[in-house]
Amino acid sequence: MSLFKVNQEKCKRDGICAKECPTKIISFTDEKFPTPVENAEEYCLNCGHCVAVCPHSALTLNKIILDDYPLVQKHLLPSGETIKEFLKSRRSIRKYQKKAVSHDLLAELIDLGRFAPTGSNKQQVHWIVFEDTAKIHQLSSLVIEWVKLMVKKIPDPITVKRMERLVSSWENGEDRIVHGAPHLIVTHASSNQPSASSDCVIALTYLELYAFSKGLGTCWAGYLTSAANAYAPLREALGLPEGHKCYGAAMLGYPQYQYNRIPDRNAPLVTWI
Ligand SMILES: Cc1cc2nc3c(=O)[nH]c(=O)nc-3n(C[C@H](O)[C@H](O)[C@H](O)COP(=O)(O)O)c2cc1C
Repeated sequence: MSLFKVNQEKCKRDGICAKECPTKIISFTDEKFPTPVENAEEYCLNCGHCVAVCPHSALTLNKIILDDYPLVQKHLLPSGETIKEFLKSRRSIRKYQKKAVSHDLLAELIDLGRFAPTGSNKQQVHWIVFEDTAKIHQLSSLVIEWVKLMVKKIPDPITVKRMERLVSSWENGEDRIVHGAPHLIVTHASSNQPSASSDCVIALTYLELYAFSKGLGTCWAGYLTSAANAYAPLREALGLPEGHKCYGAAMLGYPQYQYNRIPDRNAPLVTWI
């Protein structure tokens, strides 16, 4: 069976599908109808770009029906100015209301993460969503156990001091690992995948930004991520499968406070050539 079908009545033979195909598996010569190159299946990423870019809805991939490609709602797209303000206004949130986020909204956030780019369109980001605050507290306590072990091993005195402060906060009843957030979202993937780390980080970033648009707050859980890959009891408590690494985790919930100003950031470290 051919990789894709071309509706010859709709196709205007403009070759856009062939030009946009990232792996160049669509042959378009002499303005004939596009056809798959030899062994096209082997190289196809199933990214759907050929279907999505065709202005005439003339092309369908055999694996995906056209109804699975909703039209872009152009009137809903934000302006550059809106996006800029939105991105600059997002803050890491460390004080959360004691209010759970609905399961449906959490599922909607995860669903949006599917649309993040992934290396070779592999889409191999795995998610673990914690909705149980007692379990999240237990995960934090395991991170603290790991931090206590690390304090004895790390040569850098500044890092040691920072870690000691985390431990003393914990001992005073303040959780600075997940900041008492009602939810924790962990991404993981097979460490054999060349783009595993980037894929997870980008997907979690998509989720974080969408969460912000929904009035939610997030904060990356860096200590938990490091501990997840280094401390077996935490790995086990997270349920990370064999061969997988955690590439990013974020706490999430309704923020207690709203930010009113945008703190400035350093000038970009850029080389223009
Ligand atoms: C990879 C990564 C790990 C982070 N880990 C933590 C963390 O463990 N605890 C924490 O409170 N904030 C953590 N943060 C949040 C940063 O401190 C925060 O992004 C930075 O201070 C800038 O603030 P902003 O996000 O509000 O712009 C992390 C951020 C990133 C990107």
